[in-house]
Amino acid sequence: DTTGQTMKDTIRKLAKEKNAIILAHNYVPAEIQDVAHLCGDSLELSIRAAETDADIIVFCGVRFMAETAAILSPEKTVLLPVEDAGCPMADMVTPEALKKRKAQLPGIPVVTYVNSTAAVKALSDICCTSANVIRVVESLDSEEILMTPDRNLALYAASHSSKKIHLWEGFCPFHNTLDRKTVSEAKKAHPDAFFIAHPECPPEVLAMADAVTSTSGMIRMAKESEHKKFIIGTETGLLHPLRQACPDKIFHPASPEMYCPDMKKITLEILKNTLEKESGRVTVPEDIRIPALKAVRKMMAIKG
Ligand code: 13P
Ligand code: SF4
Repeated sequence: DTTGQTMKDTIRKLAKEKNAIILAHNYVPAEIQDVAHLCGDSLELSIRAAETDADIIVFCGVRFMAETAAILSPEKTVLLPVEDAGCPMADMVTPEALKKRKAQLPGIPVVTYVNSTAAVKALSDICCTSANVIRVVESLDSEEILMTPDRNLALYAASHSSKKIHLWEGFCPFHNTLDRKTVSEAKKAHPDAFFIAHPECPPEVLAMADAVTSTSGMIRMAKESEHKKFIIGTETGLLHPLRQACPDKIFHPASPEMYCPDMKKITLEILKNTLEKESGRVTVPEDIRIPALKAVRKMMAIKG
């Protein structure tokens, strides 16, 4: 509508005046994805945040994503429009709990999913995302690894590696609830659809999938595939970029209940105010940023 368009024009104009780049995760509301300069998965957004020469990075996503940008670019102003947009999974590992577990597993490297706080990254050897987890695990010399916080992602990595992976009992409350019964029903309703699942889903669901990949991996796969119909096993926000990328293909959510409320808190109005006021600044104290940067950089050095 015209109000929405005016708002989008204002946001783009403000961003230009302030030399700001708007980054959006693939799960945020459609109108936010449409106004952003770049949408992507966690890995793509981290790479872009590290490379940009903008003065301001506005991160339309959840806190750990903005923190990763602040870890990589301390000289830039990183803004998180909704300050309480968090990731419940990231809060399932605390620095104190991780220190205790490390003491029980001396010498074993820690791989931490980017869906984690900066303080937890700072205690880790290397980070990973859903897009590079197998390469990250394989890059380590050690035959044993501790992975935090996502148990399902760790089990997925373990199923593609000969390494022994010690688990952490964290999970995404939305991906973890997808079950075999729901997927069976979706498959019955759409028998000719190709089922792609996110590695945060439980192993029994991944076992039913035709492919497992990150959010942007799903978009690429849908574009390149000869299949015309898909069942999508991830947060339903991804349906928007999938339908934009492949207007002639059909996408069904594996479950309409895969909805992350924190990703949906942002509105055009909030984004405009953030740019106007330069509010919601995210910074990471240097004693945490430096070791966290080491873990993030080590991940980003892994190509593929
Ligand atoms: P991606 O890195 O695959 O986009 O996933 C991020 C996330 O939060 C998944 O729940
Ligand atoms: Fe965190 Fe799950 Fe939301 Fe992703 S979808 S941000 S893992 S709660």
